[in-house]
Amino acid sequence: MRRQIILKCVTLAVVVCFIPAISTQASRASNSAISMQIRVDDVKADVSPMLYGLMTEEINFCYEGGLYGELIRNRMFKEPPSRRRGRGRRGQPAEEEQEQSVGLPVFWQLVQTNGGVGSMELDTTQLMNEAATNSLKLDIQSVGTNQHVGLANTGFWGIPVWPNTQYRARIDAKSGNGFIGPLTLAIVSNDGTKVYAQAQIPRITPDGYHTYQAILTTGNVEETADATFQIWAHDTGTVWFGLVSLFPPTYNNRPNGNRIDIMKLMADMKPKFLRFPGGNYLEGQTMATRFDWKKTIGDISERPGHMCDAWGYWSSDGMGLLEFLEWAEDLNMETIMGIYSGYSLRGEFAQPGEELEPYVQDALDEIEYAIGDTSTTWGARRAQDGHPEPFKLHYVEIGNEEFRPDQSRYYERFAQFYDAIKAKYPQLEVIGAIGYTDRELVRNPDVYDDHFYRNSFQMQTDTTHYNNFDRNGGKVFVGEWATREGDPTSNLGAALSDAAWMTGMERNSDVVILAAYAPLFVNVNPGGQQWATDLIGFDTLSAFGSTSYWGQQMFYSNIGNKVVAATVENMPTRAMEVPRRGRGSRRGNTNAQQEAEPQTQQVQSLFYNVTYDTQNGTIYAKIVNVSETPYPVNIRVSGVDDISATGTLIQMKGSGLDEVNTIDNPGNILPVTTDLNGLSKDFTQTFPAYSISVLKMYKQ
Ligand code: AHR
Repeated sequence: MRRQIILKCVTLAVVVCFIPAISTQASRASNSAISMQIRVDDVKADVSPMLYGLMTEEINFCYEGGLYGELIRNRMFKEPPSRRRGRGRRGQPAEEEQEQSVGLPVFWQLVQTNGGVGSMELDTTQLMNEAATNSLKLDIQSVGTNQHVGLANTGFWGIPVWPNTQYRARIDAKSGNGFIGPLTLAIVSNDGTKVYAQAQIPRITPDGYHTYQAILTTGNVEETADATFQIWAHDTGTVWFGLVSLFPPTYNNRPNGNRIDIMKLMADMKPKFLRFPGGNYLEGQTMATRFDWKKTIGDISERPGHMCDAWGYWSSDGMGLLEFLEWAEDLNMETIMGIYSGYSLRGEFAQPGEELEPYVQDALDEIEYAIGDTSTTWGARRAQDGHPEPFKLHYVEIGNEEFRPDQSRYYERFAQFYDAIKAKYPQLEVIGAIGYTDRELVRNPDVYDDHFYRNSFQMQTDTTHYNNFDRNGGKVFVGEWATREGDPTSNLGAALSDAAWMTGMERNSDVVILAAYAPLFVNVNPGGQQWATDLIGFDTLSAFGSTSYWGQQMFYSNIGNKVVAATVENMPTRAMEVPRRGRGSRRGNTNAQQEAEPQTQQVQSLFYNVTYDTQNGTIYAKIVNVSETPYPVNIRVSGVDDISATGTLIQMKGSGLDEVNTIDNPGNILPVTTDLNGLSKDFTQTFPAYSISVLKMYKQ
């Protein structure tokens, strides 16, 4: 059932291939000048203090091989060989299938150089702990000076080598058959000719598994991802490995932490909240493969990991509940905790009542882990895990995209969670994983979750979506939204439509109190992506913001606390092709409908919203010109005595809708900040073709 829904989303991606062409015919309501009247004293709505945030889940290899700093792939030798290990994005090959021999772990290779002899195999008899199902057994038969016998891990698309960088290595191992060490840990070029960094573990003991740690430091080397992590043994005997881990420097120097460059990109957005852990990832295809939070806490060696079958690859669960909470804390975000609702993607669900009760209890425990004090069971566990202070938690969401609430008895399941959570934590607001239009439940959620994955036409023609919502009804979290044009990340056309859509959410932020684009990340290495269009891209070495990222950064960081009245006279319009229903739903579809002449519709060319900061007197006018024509706009401000002659313009523009930022050209389209002079309560500013502008004016 849910599978069909996912397919629907994928279909949308295909529709995106047939983006409506924007006609060159621009027109104006009359020949008079375009004017925008801003009435600062006419407050239309309060701006939600938490309006803009982030939505995240494991998708597109975004934690594994991405944000989560771990560099060793298959660190506990549990990752199954898979035929579907990440689709290639359009026009790109899928990730190379790993050669898989029975008894050998994927992403690990035996090292034997200059005549050294050894063997490796998966072993199920010498396990490190209950979370382990295999160890990796290395037998060293013969090794001499200048010979290497050991293991190599190929990482997630290579081990990143950065100059003058410290890497933290950890191995959990035990020895046998007379081996007592030493082991050398090294980062080595793929061709074996360069050792970028190395360290020694002098002794490995045979009396059970122990943890050994070492720091590897690179010198003034060139940046590359053409490297492996290797472990060399210098004597004969046997070593069993339970876990091998390698971390580069992490954000805030957190152990088991996050990659710095990606965290910085998020920090620069100034997001107010983090919705985690999904998305489909929360639900899993089956109950057994859901995000089972209790299995994601504690030392990394104690986390069994699970198949992220929603997106087709293994998760070590290194990015576990504590790490999500710390990520939010590091960026000063509130959290929206997605709680497993007892429903999984293939339609399996727990019946409300007794069968659901363990899941409800699990949710209460999860909340206690986040905010309970240390006298509680799970608050104490959090302290034991290294974080005695409770985290910030204001919202919890029950499930994700519960599209078939009748069949899966979501209304009753929701009520059971809602009542239990409210009884114990009355301060929390509970979000329902259903849209606002689905209201009238057994319990009404405090907030509804609307999702919009659309094309430019749909976005631009629906910016008034929330204008007429009942102000006394429920509040809305636009929990996932995106203009899906651009692959792997958005193009400029999508960024413009996103910005147009945001003007509508912002204008209605008394109703839309929370909003987050999705998906947040994509690993642009071959085979890394399952979903286009995404906000932040990265490979093994670096990260970049898409056009939509920069548009959102402009919106997130420039917002007042009141929406004030703004109207435009003589709004220019242009013809946009109306995407036909079903068109492009199958590649190569040549039905009669597709042959028909395209329909067009006149769509406005400028989108706008104005907010005002009553604390510091800043007026933020956001103007999005989605057309190919630059427009001068006469701006008239009333409701303040005067405005300063100096102002600020933050503007991003391009010359075509298809323009993109890429991993190789991350700065193609970026916002530029300029000081303005000569402003008054009546002035004219030109908004270039294909541009997003934030015009900051200061009350005098
Ligand atoms: O963002 C990608 C997916 O889209 C999410 O996992 C799911 O909630 C939605 O269908």
